[in-house]
Amino acid sequence: MNYIVDDKRKLKPPPEWRSDIDFVLIREDEVLTRIDEIATQLQNEYEGRDLMIVALLSGTILFLADLVRRLNLPLRIDFLGISSYGNETVSTGIKITKELKLELNGRDVLILDDILDTGNTINLTINKIANLRPKSIKTCVLLDKPARRKINIKADYTGFEIPDYFVVGYGLDFAERFRNLPFIGVLKKELYQQQIN
Ligand code: IMP
Ligand code: MG
Repeated sequence: MNYIVDDKRKLKPPPEWRSDIDFVLIREDEVLTRIDEIATQLQNEYEGRDLMIVALLSGTILFLADLVRRLNLPLRIDFLGISSYGNETVSTGIKITKELKLELNGRDVLILDDILDTGNTINLTINKIANLRPKSIKTCVLLDKPARRKINIKADYTGFEIPDYFVVGYGLDFAERFRNLPFIGVLKKELYQQQIN
């Protein structure tokens, strides 16, 4: 499939999810095929080096698990809790909910996030990590929603570029739910409205 996903792509959800999901944007097998490719790129980039992955909580849980089992590198994993607050689909600020545990000084750091939206989260994370004097910093995101960017920033590795939908699944949530969907999809309108009203 094309890694730039257009707004005409609306696949039928599996029967067990039909009551909540309007349509599937990216199927599970497509996500995994793309992760194979990103893993190959990372393997080439970091071959022979120690890699420090900093995964942003909680949206990266499935992406991280599927990515690292495809990497044959001496790597370490740390987690940074960083979450936007506001209502469920629009963020108005960012707070740190878990600090890093490992030493980043002199390390090759790869920041992993689920989705690059306005760019605030990745930007803040890069600044925070740069202060810890790593050897290098690169960024890797599963999804990129360029339509909503506020900060001029691009990830070094991107899974899919998607249209301006609020998506759930494969780690991404709506009000902390739907992270367990194996695919990336768009909720039925009634579900978003229920929360806002
Ligand atoms: P940014 O700071 O605006 O770039 O947004 C990044 C964070 O907002 C991500 O790590 C997600 O947690 C959340 N986010 C942005 N867009 C979506 C979406 O479409 N679905 C679920 N979460 C999203
Ligand atoms: Mg979220």
